[in-house]
Order: sequence, then structure tokens, then C-alpha cells
Amino acid sequence: MNQRPRRNRKSISIRRMVQETNLTISDFIYPLFVVSGNKIKQEISSMPNVYRWSIDLLLKEVEECINLGIENFVLFPAVEENLKDKIASYSYQSDNFYLTAISRIKTNFPHVSLMSDVAMDPYSSDGHDGFVENGEIINDKTLPILSKMSIAQAQAGIDIIGPSDMMDGRVGYIRKELDNEGFQNTSIMSYTAKYASAFYGPFRDALDSAPKHGDKKTYQMNPANIKEAMIEAELDAFEGADFLMVKPALCYLDVIHQLKNNFDLPISAYNVSGEYAMIHAAANNGWLDYNAAFQESVLSIKRAGADVILSYFAKDFAKLNGK
Ligand code: PBG
Repeated sequence: MNQRPRRNRKSISIRRMVQETNLTISDFIYPLFVVSGNKIKQEISSMPNVYRWSIDLLLKEVEECINLGIENFVLFPAVEENLKDKIASYSYQSDNFYLTAISRIKTNFPHVSLMSDVAMDPYSSDGHDGFVENGEIINDKTLPILSKMSIAQAQAGIDIIGPSDMMDGRVGYIRKELDNEGFQNTSIMSYTAKYASAFYGPFRDALDSAPKHGDKKTYQMNPANIKEAMIEAELDAFEGADFLMVKPALCYLDVIHQLKNNFDLPISAYNVSGEYAMIHAAANNGWLDYNAAFQESVLSIKRAGADVILSYFAKDFAKLNGK
């Protein structure tokens, strides 16, 4: 044998020397859930160690994360049922708690990158990402609503708009409206290939945002398709997206890889709530080693081609590998 691959595995230092993929805390965006009120830290039963925070405590949590080395955050609002309506009007009410949270974080910690969620579901009495008429999700009536939401977030100081709704044409529509309002420097991270997945369950518990009727299959993608992800990516790149996202991550590593090989824009991946809950559930049963299992999962997402990873594991990753 003149080739013995085990030689390059014989010590920790050699293994480190030949390591192909290196994950660091700056690769991550940490999702945080916000509620209105004061002194609130609510547990989410299906997402251990993830909480809904009121703004006062959210600011403390952000500070703690910054001290661990986390610099990028994405915010999601858990909106009270009585504020939801057909047109998600609370989403662009200028003094709503979500926009207040954005401006407070950016005022207190101007150097962090803050990303938003743009979709109707947290604010919609129908629980769908788009405008519903006679049980149908109406694409073109949704676009102006998404754009009002985006402009309100840009005014609050958001760095990156995150359209997660999967309506056709929304990236171009939002880009044009942002530019018209003078927000040329506000970025768009498009949820480009977002699949109709069973792995969003715990997130919908967190926001109480499950659809009131039907499912999301007429707008989110069929898990069987990868060519369609290329069509979505071409459109988003053409419409002006700054990042292309694949979501979920772990069942879709092939999609991440293919987008990485075919597009020069940064590729992000959303390691979603169900992927987080699964590892916690197994670890709580003593079936998996939590630290080893979650780090292997997030590493695999980077190895597949993701430049940026949205993950609830970011804080635990920072504790183990951060500053
Ligand atoms: C909806 C949205 C969802 C997630 C982010 N934005 C859920 C859905 O489409 O129903 C899921 C995130 C997660 O599961 O962690 N606009």
C-alpha cells in the first residue's frame, strides 16, 4: 500500500491541519422570538432553551449572545390573536412591538447584523403567508402587503429583509419599493427554496402561527423537487436578492450543494425548529450525545455549501467554540 489515508488521521494536530471545512460563530445567524410586554421570558415546550422574550429581556439576551461572539440575529414576532387580521395590518403599524424591537436592538448594538421575517403568517387571522380569498392564497394581492411590511422594517433600521413567504415575484417587488423609498442599502436574503416541510412544527408552536385551514403546499415547494429550486434561484438572483436560502437544511443538503455550485451569491441555509427539536428529544432520552450530534449537523450544512447558517444551535455553538 503506498496510500494509507489513516496517516492523515493519526493525531489531533494532523487531523486539524487537513480539516477541509471549518465552522466559526460568524457563519451563524441566531433566531430570536419577540413578544409584547415587559419582563416576559416564555418557554416553548417543543424548543428547549428557546424563549419568547419581551423587548427589555430581549436586549439582555442579545447582549449575552454578543459577549459569546454572536453578531447576527433574525427576529420573529409572536403576535396576540386579537391583533391578527386578513391583511396583516399590524405588521406595518409603525409602533408595533416587532419594529420597536428592531430599532431598540440597532440603537443599542449598532454593529450587529439584524435580519427580519417578511411573511403574513404571524399577523394573519388565516395563518397563511399570503392573502387569502375564498380559501385561495392570492399571489399578487400579497405583494403590496409584503412591501409595506418591508418598508416599515427598513424604517426601523433592519439590515437584511428576509422574505419567507414564497410568493412569486416578491423579491423584485420588494427591491423596487425599497429603492423607491431610499433604502438602497437594505439587503434581501430570500427564502429561495423553501419546502413544504413537516420540520416547521415547533416554530408554529412558538408563534402560534399554524394555518387555520389547509396547508402551504400551493406556495412552499414539493420536497421531491430540486430542478424547481434552480428556477427559484434564477428568479431571485435576477430580481435582486443578495443571498439565496435553502430551508430546511438537513433533508436538503443536496439542494444547498447544487445552489452553491451554480450561483455566485452567498448561500444560506435554515437549520429549522424541527431539526433542533429532534436532537434535543433524542439527547434528553440519553440516545444521542447533544454536543457531538448538534455540531456534526451544523458542520454538515457548511460542508454541503452553506456560507451562512440560521440555527437555534448558534448559542450552544458559541459557548463551545466562541470567544
Ligand atoms: C413562515 C416561517 C416559517 C419558518 C420561518 N418563517 C414556518 C412556516 O413556513 O410555516 C420556520 C422556521 C423554523 O421552523 O425554524 N413565514
